[in-house]
Amino acid sequence: MRFVTNVTDLASEDYYDYIMPAEERRDVHSPPRSPNPVEFVGDRRVRRRSPSSPEIAEFAGDHRVCRRSRWSSNDPNICMFMQQEARRQSSSHNRRCKRAWKSHGGEFIRHGARVVIVDSDEEGGFKAAKELGVAAEFMVCDVTVEADIARAVETTVERHGKLDVMYNNAGIVGPTIPASISELDMKEFENVMRINVIGVVSGIKHAAKVMIPAGSGCILCTSSVAGVIGGLAPHSYTISKFTIPGIVKSAASELCEHGVRINCISPGTVATPLALRYLRKVFPTATEEKLRETVKGMGELKGAECEEADVAKAALYLASDDGKYVTGHNLVVDGGMTAFKIAGFPFPSDS
Ligand SMILES: NC(=O)c1ccc[n+]([C@@H]2O[C@H](COP(=O)([O-])OP(=O)(O)OC[C@H]3O[C@@H](n4cnc5c(N)ncnc54)[C@H](O)[C@@H]3O)[C@@H](O)[C@H]2O)c1
Repeated sequence: MRFVTNVTDLASEDYYDYIMPAEERRDVHSPPRSPNPVEFVGDRRVRRRSPSSPEIAEFAGDHRVCRRSRWSSNDPNICMFMQQEARRQSSSHNRRCKRAWKSHGGEFIRHGARVVIVDSDEEGGFKAAKELGVAAEFMVCDVTVEADIARAVETTVERHGKLDVMYNNAGIVGPTIPASISELDMKEFENVMRINVIGVVSGIKHAAKVMIPAGSGCILCTSSVAGVIGGLAPHSYTISKFTIPGIVKSAASELCEHGVRINCISPGTVATPLALRYLRKVFPTATEEKLRETVKGMGELKGAECEEADVAKAALYLASDDGKYVTGHNLVVDGGMTAFKIAGFPFPSDS
């Protein structure tokens, strides 16, 4: 889970000291120096006057640039993301940072948000928050423990005054073997459902507790292409992901009248630790490089592959004012993978 606030909701300096020493910080939310903010469109330098929403100072290399927040100026946003996403797969500092900034948290921060990462992986969560910088913070939370989620929401509201966006994103694939439903281990099935479904419902419940009285908010959940067509993943995972759009529609039917939106995203395969772990089990002798190639080759859209940034941008659209009239929706980000099946008709025989 991550909490995000926009530029107008700056937390105190002291609050972030436990994550990152002051001298290491580069605050992307500090006010721009120029009264007419400078922005770069490609190589062109443009100036805007009378911006309708706050500017966020950002660094592109050594350049300080400004962009508009995706949220309106007097409406600070606090978003809760279940799961840390700024993963580190390389020892190179630059690659790590690039990856962090491509993640959901990075995308939200770049557009004026503050992020609190909430995950059961304490070490990974703290590192992810540190990589994302001063606009990120971290809390430990196991999504299968309802009290953990309740505490995380309460703490966020205490610290930031409200919760604007909740992103239920934690998930596991579960065991790949045995593959047959006739041999399904019901304990393992329950384990997958506890994280992928019950964790999501708990997240929705506790977000709704604060969003309903506030009369606004946005909840995002993560399904999958495996929740759109069968046969792409093990049964437990597939079943768990098919439930998400249903949960979203059910919750939307009530939350609409309170001004709270809820949507889900169904991404195609992205080479994250989850996907690579799964493929490693399916192809145990394949190298990491081959597994990544396999992921790239899974899409249908020529010249494109599903990247974390694509999913992050879909999330940003749904969570921000850009998606203010979208609710109860399942946004499939899969390059057409589940949109069609090329008919492989057997050639009719003459006889
Ligand atoms: N990677 C893909 O190809 C893909 C495709 C479609 C959907 N998804 C979905 O996207 C979401 C994110 O997946 P990812 O690929 O980034 O996976 P990931 O394994 O890289 O990250 C999963 C995260 O969930 C956390 N987590 C696991 N159990 C938890 C628990 N009980 N409490 C709190 N946190 C817990 C883990 O610590 C980890 O940070 C999942 O819901 C997944 O099903 C992934």
